[in-house]
Amino acid sequence: AVAPDLAGRHVVISAGGTREPLDPVRFLGNRSSGKQGYALARTAVARGARVTLVAANAALPDPAGADLVRVTTASELREAVLKAAADADAVVMAAAVADFRPAARAESKIKKVPGRDPDPIALVRNPDILAELSSAKTPGRVVVGFAAETDDVLANGRAKLAAKGCDLLVVNQVGEDRAFGAEENEAVLLAADGGETPVPHGPKEALADEIWDAVARLLRGASAG
Ligand code: C5P
Repeated sequence: AVAPDLAGRHVVISAGGTREPLDPVRFLGNRSSGKQGYALARTAVARGARVTLVAANAALPDPAGADLVRVTTASELREAVLKAAADADAVVMAAAVADFRPAARAESKIKKVPGRDPDPIALVRNPDILAELSSAKTPGRVVVGFAAETDDVLANGRAKLAAKGCDLLVVNQVGEDRAFGAEENEAVLLAADGGETPVPHGPKEALADEIWDAVARLLRGASAG
C-alpha cells in the first residue's frame, strides 16, 4: 500500500502536447505522448490527492479517479490550468507546450498553387504558462516544470529553473527515441534550493513517485514554516 501523503491536497497536472492550428486540417505539434503526465495523475490518485489532469491530445486511457479536462492548443491549456490552479496545492507542468503558434489560422484548407513556392509560416509567441504560474505563486504552493534537453542537460536545466522561477524542474535528455513516447524515463530533479536528485532509468510511474516525494516534502516544509 502507498502512504496517502497527498490526502487533502489538490494537484493539477498538464500532460501531452499542444497542437497549434494552421488551417482546419493542419497543425504544428510535437512528439509528446502524455505518458509521463498520465503516470503522474495515476500515482497522485494512489497517494490520496484530488487530481485535475489537463490533457492535450493524448491517446491514453482515462486515469481512474482524476478529473480530466481535454484541450488542444496552448491557449486552451493555459485557461484550463489557471482555472484548476486557483485552489491547487501543486501544479506539475508535464505537457509539451508549443512556444510559438501560427500568427494566423486560415478559415479554409491552405491550397498548393502549382508552380508557386509556399508562403512562409509566420509565428507568434505563446504565453509561458509555467513562468506565469511561478510568478503568481501563492505561498505554500509548489510549482513543477519539465525540461527536455538534448545537450548540456544539467547546465541548461539550472538556467531554465532560474528563468522560469519554479520550485522543481524535472530535466530529461531527449532525442531520437529517448523519453518521448517511451515507456521509461530517466531524469534529474533540480530544486530551487540547490537540491539535485538523479532518478535512474525506469518506468514513468517510478519517476512520477520521485516527483511526488519531492512535492510532498516541499508541501510539508511549507506548512511547518
Ligand atoms: O521553455 P521550455 O518549453 O523548454 O520549458 C518547458 C516547461 O515549460 C514545461 O514544464 C512546459 O510545460 C512549460 N511551458 C509552459 N508554457 C510554454 C512553454 C513551456 O508552461 N509556453
